[in-house]
Amino acid sequence: MAAKNTKTNFVCQSCGFENSKWLGRCPSCGGWNTFVEERTRTDLRRSPKDRGKGSRDKEQVQVRAVRLSQIELERQPRMLTGIGEFDSCLGGGILPGSLILLGGDPGIGKSTLALQVMEQVGLSGRKVLYISGEESLEQVKLRASRLGAGSENLLLASLTELDDIIALAQQTAPDLLVIDSIQTVYWSELESAPGSVGQVRECGAMMMRLAKENALATILIGHVTKEGMIAGPRTLEHMVDTVLYLEGERHHSFRILRSVKNRFGSTNEIGVFEMSQSGLMPVANPSQLFLSQRNLRVPGSAVICALEGSRPLLVEIQALVSPTPFGTPQRNTTGINHRRLSMLLAVLERRAGLNLGMHDIFVNVAGGLKLEEPAADLGTAVAVASAFRNRAADPQMVFLGEVGLGGEIRSVSQMGRRLAEAGKLGFHRAACPGGAEPSPGIEIIKVSDISQALNVAFNHRGT
Ligand code: TYD
Ligand code: MG
Repeated sequence: MAAKNTKTNFVCQSCGFENSKWLGRCPSCGGWNTFVEERTRTDLRRSPKDRGKGSRDKEQVQVRAVRLSQIELERQPRMLTGIGEFDSCLGGGILPGSLILLGGDPGIGKSTLALQVMEQVGLSGRKVLYISGEESLEQVKLRASRLGAGSENLLLASLTELDDIIALAQQTAPDLLVIDSIQTVYWSELESAPGSVGQVRECGAMMMRLAKENALATILIGHVTKEGMIAGPRTLEHMVDTVLYLEGERHHSFRILRSVKNRFGSTNEIGVFEMSQSGLMPVANPSQLFLSQRNLRVPGSAVICALEGSRPLLVEIQALVSPTPFGTPQRNTTGINHRRLSMLLAVLERRAGLNLGMHDIFVNVAGGLKLEEPAADLGTAVAVASAFRNRAADPQMVFLGEVGLGGEIRSVSQMGRRLAEAGKLGFHRAACPGGAEPSPGIEIIKVSDISQALNVAFNHRGT
């Protein structure tokens, strides 16, 4: 029989959707057999400070409102880590009392990045507490020596029980607390297993209170698989102040740190790193790195300028087009949306007369970057046309524009910054829709539709 103060719920392991009954298919994410039973003790939700003091409803709680004008702003200095790419993602360093979720695929480098951040915070004279639930202290030490980290202000503990962690945090009073990972933490009062939606949510809520009540900056590390199948950390997204995701292909050395939510700064900021022998190295000029291996003479390549947060990034789009040996033609993409490619192929077919129907088409964004903006359309279309015609596009030209269903080229946001980045990296020409302001060092070639854009791309002298 269920205890009196117990609530039974069914939670989708894929997206965190809750329901009072078990469902075969999740109405929110469409996943099959994703519901598991979660039992929560409703009488135990207490602040870390109130532990052992009796239940909350017995306390006298004073409720009052304050005038907006009476609220004094206390300017808390942010903790700068000195790792510029990390600080800028957070909007200028770590704010005391903020709760940050650092997510990413297993093995992508979250623990490495966290340790580098902790070392820098430690070196600045602040105390850091690192709770490792996944690795032994020896393993952490090994990684630290590989990274050259050895600050005296770094305290480590290998713990997984929530109350132990809270007790240790209160006893040591650090400036920064790092939990690696939130999936290993469990609260013994709950029946569900560590890493389950219920545990992750409850432990996340407790860490939130601990952070706010003690002005303790906290980083929660969470594993998220590509398919998002591990729902735990995802359910924390709406609770925490800041969500950072570390992305990248495991077999590429680039890593992109992306802020997808930030209560204290702008979102979609990115930081670019390269995984090296001694940890994650910030990349000062990512455009240069992304273009460094480009072969100018090979057909099927076009450079675009993507905007990631406030950051313009030049990237190469590569395409390969070859006759289909048998059956249905394949369309394969890495780094761009599959459906977007299908749309662009249809536009190329109907508006520019390219007969792509019996060809296999592969499109790849060099360097492992994922592009979501329609600003990559024109470059993608040019790369495909270039591969199909087996003719290199103008290597000194950058392509900026969204392609509409009528084959028209539409303008994209922040053209000025994109053009400036292209000019800085030595591009001489930009094919873009009308309305772009002139930019120093780069000639703007206005294109209004896809056929005209292809003419411009291929009628070059190769300078
Ligand atoms: P890790 O930080 O343990 O990943 P996560 O915490 O996200 O699971 O990093 C895992 C990978 O990084 C591992 O395959 C080894 C590699 N690595 C380096 O290449 N250089 C280094 O200096 C370190 C510490 C790790
Ligand atoms: Mg790790």
